[in-house]
Amino acid sequence: MKNILPEVIGTNNSIKLKNGSVKKIIMLNNAATTPPFKETLKEVNEFLQTYGALHRGAGPHANITYKKATEAIKTIKTFLNLREDQELIFTSNTSNAINLLSRLLKFSKNDVVLTSFIEHTSNNLPWKFGSCKTIYINSFDDGSIDYKDLENKAKKYSKNLKLITITGASNLTGYIPNIKKISKIAHKHNALLFVDAAQLAPHRKIDMKNDNIDTLAFSSHKLYAPFGLGVLALPKKILETSPVDPGGGSIDMINETGVIWSPSELRHQTGTWNVTGIIATSASCKTIMNTGWNNIINHERKLIDYAVEKLRTVPGITLYVKPETYLEEDRIGTFTFNLKDCHHALLSSILENEYGIETRAGTICNHRLVRRWFNINDKEQNKIEEQIKKGNRLASYGIVRASIGIHNTEKDIDILVEALKEISKNGPKLKYKPLPEEETYVCY
Ligand SMILES: Cc1ncc(COP(=O)(O)O)c(C=O)c1O
Repeated sequence: MKNILPEVIGTNNSIKLKNGSVKKIIMLNNAATTPPFKETLKEVNEFLQTYGALHRGAGPHANITYKKATEAIKTIKTFLNLREDQELIFTSNTSNAINLLSRLLKFSKNDVVLTSFIEHTSNNLPWKFGSCKTIYINSFDDGSIDYKDLENKAKKYSKNLKLITITGASNLTGYIPNIKKISKIAHKHNALLFVDAAQLAPHRKIDMKNDNIDTLAFSSHKLYAPFGLGVLALPKKILETSPVDPGGGSIDMINETGVIWSPSELRHQTGTWNVTGIIATSASCKTIMNTGWNNIINHERKLIDYAVEKLRTVPGITLYVKPETYLEEDRIGTFTFNLKDCHHALLSSILENEYGIETRAGTICNHRLVRRWFNINDKEQNKIEEQIKKGNRLASYGIVRASIGIHNTEKDIDILVEALKEISKNGPKLKYKPLPEEETYVCY
């Protein structure tokens, strides 16, 4: 049968391991980043043949570049189903986009932002250390959020509530919050809704218009377009303010007494635009839309079901979200686990060095939820923090994460599961030493 899914660069790469064997590289760290689609790389390559200045001069190449960039921006808007009164601002990643949004909103200390305990650090710190008052809603051990608490807190802080900011999908548990429901709660209290779609964008259709999402961000490097672009979608009216990062491209005129800012959609994008990133992102959006979300979701859904049934058979494994939860709920394919008596960083290193499998280990920018799984009290936490301050970054509790992408197959899952079984039974075959300052174990 012809594969209807897009091809991803690197899926046939192999590595010669330290024991001399050659193994196919198994890419199961897709929640961290993704290689480009073949189509995306092809389109970038074609684009670069006539690359020229965007907004920075005239000429044949500049002209072609302007036309292609305009078309690409339109495609990204279609991908998000943006409303007419919304605009895109390009940054370098989701973290930058959220920081920019937090400063553009210019909240004061009485303004309330509601967020959750399951957020990635990038959707916590800009608010926590921002100018507003940040209130957290409760969550549960399986990584889901407490909607009752959300409703209660929205009501309690209604007078000053300005924003509800929530992840579109969790980078740790794969949980997908009910965005439509949260949108209704936000708008009932005249607040805006922001969705951190870093993990959602590669796995589910985004519909800003019909889900009534006011503002949203994602990173192209997680959308099979690793060319340094972040996308922030937001209401045009938020842009009608002075830029928080003024510089080249922000002004039309400056004199001794003041400035004339550039049009609002331009003045906040200081400096030369990453037009290659825009072209790449648009190419990935097109590839996904042409493939069809149903095909992508069906493929990933089957793989998730397969993975949980297999992972649960590994002796000594702890799966931090119950397999049943994945089988019963609509989650993305992000699995967190540990093996008995094996440090999480060591396990990730064995998978890399002995099996050629890519994963990620640590607290993965979600310290609060991982701490909860390990039941760490304040005294234990203080001890750990003291060690980390002294440079022992391996002192922390943590997990290993395997995350599925569009290119993964049942064979990839089999290889992971067989590796885990072997490690569980016989431990590592090579020698490792801790490298605390780098939060890893090296093989020697
Ligand atoms: C849910 C979520 N939000 C935000 C980010 C930050 O993305 P970036 O590193 O591209 O800024 C990540 C990255 O893993 C994430 O998973």
